[in-house]
Amino acid sequence: MSNYSREINFVLNGEAAHATIQTHHTILDVLRNTFGLYGARESCGQGLCGCCTVLIDGDAVSGCLCLAASIDGREVTTVENLDADGELDVVQQAFIDCGAFQCGFCTSGFLLMSKRLLATNANPSDDDIRSYLSGNLCRCAAYPEIIEAVKLAANRMNHHAEREKV
Ligand code: FES
Ligand code: FES
Repeated sequence: MSNYSREINFVLNGEAAHATIQTHHTILDVLRNTFGLYGARESCGQGLCGCCTVLIDGDAVSGCLCLAASIDGREVTTVENLDADGELDVVQQAFIDCGAFQCGFCTSGFLLMSKRLLATNANPSDDDIRSYLSGNLCRCAAYPEIIEAVKLAANRMNHHAEREKV
């Protein structure tokens, strides 16, 4: 191990994980090169587009900017965890049903941010959605469909919650 290497232990999508990293490596480098998780993507590399979004202890961060050393002892969730039980998450299904992507390069970031939005706001308005997702850029401009997808997911989640009560 060189002076510029260190070991990190963290939880990745619910499982204990270990990696030897170089101190200049970003979270994105480690997810892609050590763990083969390609859902978070690098586009701008400057914290401007949200394509590289991952959750650290539940908070959304830009994986292109955060050093991998910062996840030592923490919990990392990536888009790959959304269908970990073998079924698409309600937000993923809504994006498909609304055609809320074209090339899909931005989609993982939008999915994770939409999940976070719906966890705190069960009935977001169009403005709420625009505001919450304003850090995510879609170069294909699928914004109208993305807003529809978030609302569809909210409806389905609320429906499901109502049925559970009965
Ligand atoms: S690639 Fe990280 S914010 Fe754009
Ligand atoms: S679907 Fe192509 S960048 Fe968003």
